Amino acid sequence: MDILIRGERKEDYDDIKKINDLAFGQENEGRMVEALRKTRGYNPKLSLVAELNNNIVGHILFYPIKIKNEKKEFTALSLAPMAVCPKYQNKGIGNKLVIKGIEVAREYGFGAVIVVGHPKYYPRFGFQPASNWRMQLPFDVPDDVFLALELRNNYLKSFRGKVEYPREYFDAL
Ligand SMILES: CC(C)(COP(=O)(O)OP(=O)(O)OC[C@H]1O[C@@H](n2cnc3c(N)ncnc32)[C@H](O)[C@@H]1OP(=O)(O)O)[C@@H](O)C(=O)NCCC(=O)NCCS
Repeated sequence: MDILIRGERKEDYDDIKKINDLAFGQENEGRMVEALRKTRGYNPKLSLVAELNNNIVGHILFYPIKIKNEKKEFTALSLAPMAVCPKYQNKGIGNKLVIKGIEVAREYGFGAVIVVGHPKYYPRFGFQPASNWRMQLPFDVPDDVFLALELRNNYLKSFRGKVEYPREYFDAL
């Protein structure tokens, strides 16, 4: 399978929505991407599509979030959502999207990526339990689904605080 991973373009918007709707079986995530696209933090180079024979079959978004405490504020990327067309799942497309996304995130100089996701899936990319550091989420989830990856050595070491997602994350859910 000849899969091309690249940043989104305007003409991909409808396909990105469709892939998210199909993969999640609901419209929330696709709507979230559309809402975030209108915000300042959105970088189309960090919204990656997987293209197969000129068709979009997968999508992943990395969006900048803040981790805040009383004194300081840190920046990281949040990985979400990620979607592969059901017909093409389990063929390594998700894998390629995550790897390329991490590469682009590094190029932009981001220091870390956080994800709320499957504890068995993300460690293969180097993600570790976020409990290794001192970050909290603004909502309750089981500890093991909150993971983080340092893109720069010890970047998360000095972090202490609560993750602040943009409003659009919640509006769409
Ligand atoms: C999760 C998802 C993006 C993975 O894409 P993919 O192209 O199928 O992934 P890959 O082929 O690279 O990897 C397959 C692995 O993902 C695992 N996987 C499949 N669905 C998963 C899910 N919902 N959560 C965690 N892991 C999942 C498979 O078990 C497989 O693991 P293995 O390699 O240990 O056998 C895709 O299955 C999907 O779109 N799922 C529905 C939407 C979703 O749940 N997104 C993630 C939350 S944002």
